[in-house]
Amino acid sequence: NIRLKYRYLDLRRNHMARNLKMRHKMIMSIRNYMDEKGFLDVDTPILTKSTPEGARDFLVPSRTNPGDFYALPQSPQLFKQLLMISGVEKYFQIAKCFRDEDLRADRQPEFTQLDIEMSFIEQKDIMNEIEGLAKRVFKNVTEESAEYDFPRMPYAEAMERFGSDKPDTRFGVELKDLTDIMATCGFKGFQSAVEAGGVVKAVVAPGVAEQFSRKILTEYEDYAKTYFGAKGMAWIKITEEGVNSPIAKFFTEEEMAAIISRTEAKVGDVIMIVADRAKVVYGALGAVRLKLGKELGLIDNDEFKFLWIVDFPMFEYDEEEQRYKAQHHPFTSIKEEDMQLFLDGEMDAVRTNSYDLVLNGSEIGGGSIRIFNPEIQSKVFEKLGLSKEEAQDKFGFFVDAFKYGAPPHGGLAFGIDRWLMVMLKEQSIRDVIPFPKTNKGQCLMTEAPSKVDDKQLEELYLDSTYNSEIV
Ligand code: AMO
Repeated sequence: NIRLKYRYLDLRRNHMARNLKMRHKMIMSIRNYMDEKGFLDVDTPILTKSTPEGARDFLVPSRTNPGDFYALPQSPQLFKQLLMISGVEKYFQIAKCFRDEDLRADRQPEFTQLDIEMSFIEQKDIMNEIEGLAKRVFKNVTEESAEYDFPRMPYAEAMERFGSDKPDTRFGVELKDLTDIMATCGFKGFQSAVEAGGVVKAVVAPGVAEQFSRKILTEYEDYAKTYFGAKGMAWIKITEEGVNSPIAKFFTEEEMAAIISRTEAKVGDVIMIVADRAKVVYGALGAVRLKLGKELGLIDNDEFKFLWIVDFPMFEYDEEEQRYKAQHHPFTSIKEEDMQLFLDGEMDAVRTNSYDLVLNGSEIGGGSIRIFNPEIQSKVFEKLGLSKEEAQDKFGFFVDAFKYGAPPHGGLAFGIDRWLMVMLKEQSIRDVIPFPKTNKGQCLMTEAPSKVDDKQLEELYLDSTYNSEIV
């Protein structure tokens, strides 16, 4: 907090001065590359319309239009697509984005994107273009060799193997599936999870059977439980003397042998098992896997691994709101082979032409090929539960534009801050942003956000009575 309050002094330190220079280098290298490749830098408004895009909007009241509000853009998504309709074939912008969401070590309410869109392209064209850019930026910033591969992995495989849609592939400890073995086992807890349509999966902590006391294992279990309400995590130690586990008594010898063989656990290893709905199991074991990777020193910190995750699901069920939402955004196009599933309302099975770029377990960018057929776009809104009136009110201007002819198009946005943070191996995104905000979204130097005069509120037609009520 002291660093943030006196940020101008903090920025004098060598480390922070270096980070400022690196940020400059990164931005220059992006601009040069995009210019060389014929992209046009176009800026888009900051005061814009509130549209349901995912996160909560920051709102700005309008003095000249009493009762109406602008929203700060969560990204320039709609504008960049409209620019494609305008005939800008290759667009980019280094754009400020604003999202009123809960903050984490790699999130800020105000952050910077490298936003890109291209028309008359296919997914492979844009991915190639991005790989070239990623290599150039990487080389210019880190001055290391940039002979990196960009392997591609479908979302479903990433979840199955790593329990994450942004896996850190610098180490193994992959998830192993035990569902079929547990479906008929004597352990009621696992069996009933499978009967309820859930899954049972495991990760193997290598070589820690001696080192991991019950206390440490309970810590891991408590950690697992913080993910989507996982109910518990069972463990089996493989020792010279045989298996050691509170749940060993529930399994026959054959079942135990099957578990060990499936997980490929060796003497000295600990098998960690979670049974629940797939989403819970992936969340919990994906997190346990990362904790093991960090705490057991399985990650080589000098290594950089890029990975594309492709074919994300179109929809995601929001349990709180009890409805389907677009997993990315509602303008993402559907894979040709899944179109019939979409038309049939098989919401969970529909995949998109989408791609996220992951670097060392961080999602540094994401994008998709867009829907350019207004009828399909309207159908997506319909499946998302937006009435014709709501869709017209929120996105009418956008859908209308497509009637004038829209080229096939697609794009991507990088999170510049997050990408730089990973390249510089910083632990917090705040260390690569000149004037960042705290976890509560405050700027400790200027003391924003702050109260304003009653008069300012009244000019904006906002109720000033709250001013005196809030202490
Ligand atoms: P998306 O929402 O995935 O896509 O954002 C793109 C990238 O921006 C970064 N990012 C953030 N960085 C810091 N703080 C945040 N709060 C934050 N939120 C996101 C991430 C992410 O990968 N319009 C689409 C892109 C497209 O489809 O072209 C979009 O904004 O690194």
